[in-house]
This record gives sequence, structure tokens and C-alpha cells, in this order.
Amino acid sequence: SLALVGDPGASLYNTGAHTTTGVGMKGLVLSGGKGTRLYPLTYTKAKQLIPVANKPVLFRVIEAIRDAGIREIGIVVGDTAAEVKEAVGRGERWGVEITYIHQSAPLGLAHAVKESREFLGDDRFVMFLGDNCIQGGISPLIEQFGQSDWNAQIVLTRVSDPSHYGVAELDDDGRIVRLVEKPKEPRSNLALVGIYMFDRSIWEAIANIKPSWRGELEITDAIQYLVEHGYRVYPYIHRGWWIDTGKKADMLDANRLVLEEIEHRVEGFVDRDSQLIGKVTVEAGAEVINSVIRGPAIIGENARIVNSYIGPFTAIYHHTVIEDSEIEHSIVLEHSSIVAIPHRIEDSLIGRNVKVHRSPIKPKAYRLTLGDHSDIGLL
Ligand code: TTP
Repeated sequence: SLALVGDPGASLYNTGAHTTTGVGMKGLVLSGGKGTRLYPLTYTKAKQLIPVANKPVLFRVIEAIRDAGIREIGIVVGDTAAEVKEAVGRGERWGVEITYIHQSAPLGLAHAVKESREFLGDDRFVMFLGDNCIQGGISPLIEQFGQSDWNAQIVLTRVSDPSHYGVAELDDDGRIVRLVEKPKEPRSNLALVGIYMFDRSIWEAIANIKPSWRGELEITDAIQYLVEHGYRVYPYIHRGWWIDTGKKADMLDANRLVLEEIEHRVEGFVDRDSQLIGKVTVEAGAEVINSVIRGPAIIGENARIVNSYIGPFTAIYHHTVIEDSEIEHSIVLEHSSIVAIPHRIEDSLIGRNVKVHRSPIKPKAYRLTLGDHSDIGLL
């Protein structure tokens, strides 16, 4: 779900500045799970690999951890292991060392941590959900935890509708006293963000919790155990936006927020009849012919935009074709084409290898081949 707490100006993940605050800590990224809420896109695709502003969310997570000075990163994988490994590799690209941890089944966040015991040893670590996007990176959090003797630190952000989130209650000293999942009567507006820091006391906690009503080992129960057994659990209050990209609307929101921070950069070809307005990134090998692109928008590598209009908050991924069409506030994934569509396409999430075109075949009719759980809105 979306939490927008407005902190314009902070740049996404502080990419330039690498700090050393995370030295001695490890990173753990959760990239298993099922992804049912992003069906049909995630039937075959790991949801963490769906791009936001043309870069997979998982890559953004790895960069955030790297930029906090952490070099050893474990990635928990499940059914989509092959795909995640293929996309991420061993980490040289980011100057980090990646270890894959195969979770035997998606039995909860605390279960994923439990199965990472060998990789984590007794080191302090930061755990980051592989489908979460946070503005400004995690260096400040890692720094605060690194300098403390706290047993755990959780990240909180103020939200307007706390009953949809895991909510934390603090005491007068700012220490965590209770965590409640989706409370009917929330005691605070501080929601849990999918980033957690632990020391080895987490192992005792995980060993002592039972699966919840939904059959999962919950990380909130493990944290609650720490709180109740006198361990020091403190919050970091994040200002800026944070998005759990688990649902379609959230993907579009994340795309919009990240695009607001892109740079104007043209590496591809833009012909003289085209117009780029505002901040537009045209990646290498892309071609823009007789078209108008109103930023913020990004056109991926080897994409072709011909006689078309690309509106704000649109990300066109690599090897796509947009011809004689108009599209705005949308994400189009790789190898798809949109050709000669008479009405503007908006608020859409279009998967890979999708063809949207006009059919010359008579009689005039809609001819659709849609996957399970598809959702189309026709005029
Ligand atoms: P969730 O979004 O909580 O769960 P999910 O992936 O099963 O999704 P859905 O509700 O759409 O079916 O997971 C948060 C992140 O943690 C996500 O990147 C997947 C990962 N994860 C694991 O690696 N192992 C697990 O056992 C679970 C539950 C999640």
C-alpha cells in the first residue's frame, strides 16, 4: 500500500554517495513469496523483477543496501529462483557479493529469516522486502542502528489510514511497546515499512513463535517477542515516500514517484519532428519518430515510438513499439507493441510480449486473447 509523507528534494537511494556505515552488517532481501496480488503479471514473473521507471524493484533494493555500505547480501528465493538468479547474477554489477537462499516454502517472513541462519550467522543484518521501494535509501537507518546497542530497529512511517497496515505503539521514551496487524482502532498512525534491522537475539525470538492463523511465521510476532522479553527495539521514523509494490495501483504510484526524480537524458535517437517536454529519459538504441513525449517519462533501450504521444508518468520498457497511439500514466513491459489504437490508453499495466492493435478482419469485433485474471476496460 502507499504511504506518501512528502519530502520532496530527497533523492532516491542517495545513489552517488556510498557510505561505510554498514560495514560488518549483512543484507537479507526477501524475494520469494507468491505474488498473487499482481496476477496475471506474476504467474510467470517474479514480482520483484517488475520494473519501476524501467528498473526492477529488486535492483533498486540491492542498490539501496549497497549504498549503505553493505557488501554481503543474501537473497531469499522461492518458485521464481531461476528467474531471479538469471536477472541478478552474483552481484559484480553492483560491487556486492550475492548468496542465494532457497526457502523450502513461502511460510512467512520470519520463516524466510529462519532459513537464512547459515548465511547470517550471528551478524547484525538488515532485512528488506524485495518488492518495497523507499525514497532516499537506507543509509541513515543503517547508521543509526550501527551506532546503537539496540537489538532491533524497525522502520515506521506516518500514514493516513493506519488500519490497513501493521501499526506500532511507542512509549514515552520512543521505544516500541506493541505491534498490531491491521488494527480496527489504531493507537498511532505509524505503519511498519518492510525494512527491519536485527542482531542475533532474533534467533531466540524466531525459535519461540508459532505460525499465525494464516499458517505463516510472522516477523511481527518475532518482534513482539523481543519487546516482551526486554530486548531493546527502537523505531526509525522515515520521512519521504515508501511503497509496497504488491498491487497494480501501487506499481503505478511507485512508477510515478520514481519518475518524478529522473533526469533529462537522451541517449537514443529523437528525430526533428518530435518534441520532448519536461524531464524525459530516452535510453540507448531507442528511437522517437514524429512523436510528442511529455515527461516525466522514460523510453527504454531499443524501443520505437512512432507518430505517438507518450504522456506524463509513463515508463516504456525495452524493445517495445508504440505506433499511432497515445498512452499516459502507464507501464509497458518488454517486447510489447501498441499500434494504431484510436483512444488514449491510461492507468494501464501492460505485460511482456503483449500485442494491442487494430484488427482489419471483418466483421468488426473485439478479438481478445487474455490471460487468467486479466482486466481490460473497453470504450
Ligand atoms: P508479501 O507481499 O507479504 O507476500 P507474497 O509475496 O506471498 O504476495 P501476495 O500477498 O501478493 O501473494 O511478501 C513480501 C516480500 O517477501 C515479497 O518480496 C515476497 C517475500 N516473501 C518471501 O521471500 N518468503 C515468504 O515466505 C513470504 C510470505 C514473502
